[in-house]
Formats: sequence, structure tokens, C-alpha cells
Amino acid sequence: MTPVARRRRREEIKITIGPFRSHLDYGSCVDIQREVWRFEDIDLVPVATLMVVDHCGGIVLGAYSAIGEMIGFVCSFLGIEDGDLIQHSHMLAVRIAYRNFDVGFRLKLAQRKEALKRKIRRITWTFDPMQPPNAYFNLGKLGAWSAKYEENFYGESTSALHRGLPTDRFLTRWDLDSKEVEKRLEEGPSAHDLRKELKKYVCINTLEEVAPGMATCANLKMNCTAPEFLFEIPHNLPDLKNRSLSVALDWQGKMRQVFKHYFKKGYATTDFWVSEDEGRHRAFYFLHKKRAR
Ligand SMILES: CC(C)(COP(=O)(O)OP(=O)(O)OC[C@H]1O[C@@H](n2cnc3c(N)ncnc32)[C@H](O)[C@@H]1OP(=O)(O)O)[C@@H](O)C(=O)NCCC(=O)NCCS
Repeated sequence: MTPVARRRRREEIKITIGPFRSHLDYGSCVDIQREVWRFEDIDLVPVATLMVVDHCGGIVLGAYSAIGEMIGFVCSFLGIEDGDLIQHSHMLAVRIAYRNFDVGFRLKLAQRKEALKRKIRRITWTFDPMQPPNAYFNLGKLGAWSAKYEENFYGESTSALHRGLPTDRFLTRWDLDSKEVEKRLEEGPSAHDLRKELKKYVCINTLEEVAPGMATCANLKMNCTAPEFLFEIPHNLPDLKNRSLSVALDWQGKMRQVFKHYFKKGYATTDFWVSEDEGRHRAFYFLHKKRAR
């Protein structure tokens, strides 16, 4: 979608972002968790816990439609990392009907603003590397980055979305007042001309189509020493989970191998590109040496 068309669509919906307004909002938040993640009750964050988080230094914000209905929320709690006070963002969710209207983005902007107001300069969270929309949202749109990969972080999950796969996660870091984040939030993700980019950067693998719309990872190079390089994943990876658990597991194995190896070598993933190439979408993690911790 062109930026102009996207902007027009976004202007169609009026929302406000703010703290939870009453006890009822904590219940709405649980309903949204159920809708979005399709967890069994045991895996939901219940009303009382949300209240405690909200009252003890966490940031809990809702997004409200023009008629006052909660359509999304973000919830983070206080944490400590490397001796610094941080917020750890445990949940961000937008009701399915309201996705791709910048509601998630505006919730994160409000969370960032509130954290900075409290003199907190970093927000961390986890996300599933096998979800291209989340990778694009976190790394591409917000300018967060990851240099830590955790295998099966949450253990077994009851969410239908996880399809029985181990819950591997990136530990992601958002440096709220860094120049990179300020620039990204101001200018938005940069557009990429794939033909030029693929001449400029090494891509450490190729995709091999094994059935229509189903690709595996081929020709993987584990000895790349370029300061910046690309790792391609299928744009439709979440659908592959539904079609073939073995192909999805193979991708998860390749991701473990790539990210654990290159993170250890001092790389971080600092961006995620989605581009169109001859009518098909392609998706790439961008890895970068300088940003590593
Ligand atoms: C992640 C989530 C909160 C984003 O909310 P949202 O309101 O849709 O977010 P935004 O509209 O601000 O941004 C979504 C972006 O993803 C893009 N996107 C949508 N589908 C995509 C896909 N398949 N691949 C890549 N990007 C995609 C949208 O185009 C939009 O980018 P743009 O502004 O450049 O057009 C929402 O999708 C959600 O609730 N997901 C389920 C819960 C979850 O996974 N939470 C954890 C997030 S880390």
C-alpha cells in the first residue's frame, strides 16, 4: 500500500490512548488477551495482577474507539537490567478488526512517552522471530533491536497461534532516547529497492521452493564476516506453521542456528525489511555488527 493510501485509511479511525478508566477496563483487557492470543485461561494475565502492575510502577494503557470501547492495550512492568531501571513490556495487543491503523504504534509511542516522563530510558520485550509482522513492527517501525535469542522462553504455550512449536523468542531492547529511535519514529521505516540492496549487502541464505508457496532455507552461510548482512525468511512463515509443522520446525532450527551464532559473534538484528520483488513479498532480517552489546 502506498504511504498516501495508508495515511488516508488511518485518518478514518479516531482513537484515544490513555490509562485504564475503571475496574471494567481490566476485564476488557483480559477479553482482548483471550481474543488475540486464544490462550487457555491459565495463561491469561488476570484482573488482579493487571491492577497490581498498574499500581506498582508499571505502565498500563488502553486504546479507545470513538464510542469508548477498548480496542487495544499495552502493559509493562518495572524491571532492572544491567543495573538500570527499565520497563519490560509483557503484552501489546490490538483487536483484529483494528489492526494496521497505527493503533499498536500509537500505544508504543504513549508507553515510550510515559517511560521517559518517569526517567526510564529503556523498554524491553520478547517477540517471536517467526512472525514477520511483529519483526517489521518492532525492528522496522519502532527501531528496537535484538542481540539475544532464547530457546523455548515461555515453555509450552496454550495459544493456538504457537501451534505446538517451542516458544523461541528474541529479547528486544528499545533505547527510547537514542538518535536511531528518534530518527526512525520521525521518518518511519526506510523504503528498500531490493535489486539495489541485494547488490549492496550479502544475503547469507536463499529460499528453495519445495511446494507452491512453501520454501525452505538453502545455501546457508555461517561464516559471513561482512559488517552488515541479510537473512531471508519466507514472508508467509506464519501460514507455513499451519501447512507443515516439519517445515516450520526446520525454519525454527535454522533461525536458532543463525541468530545464536551471529549474536555470539557480536552482531545484532536492527531492522526488518519487507519488499515486493516481481509481484511477491520477500522478508529479510538485517544484521549489523556495530550495535551489539
Ligand atoms: C502487533 C500488533 C500489536 C500491531 O498492532 P497494529 O495496530 O496492527 O500496528 P500498526 O498498525 O501500528 O503497525 C502494523 C504494521 O505491520 C504491517 N504489517 C501487517 N501485516 C504484515 C505482514 N504480514 N508482514 C509485515 N508487515 C505487516 C502493517 O502494514 C503496519 O505497517 P505500516 O504502518 O508500515 O503499514 C497487532 O498486530 C497484534 O495485536 N498482534 C497480536 C499480538 C502480538 O503479537 N503482540 C506482540 C507484539 S510484539
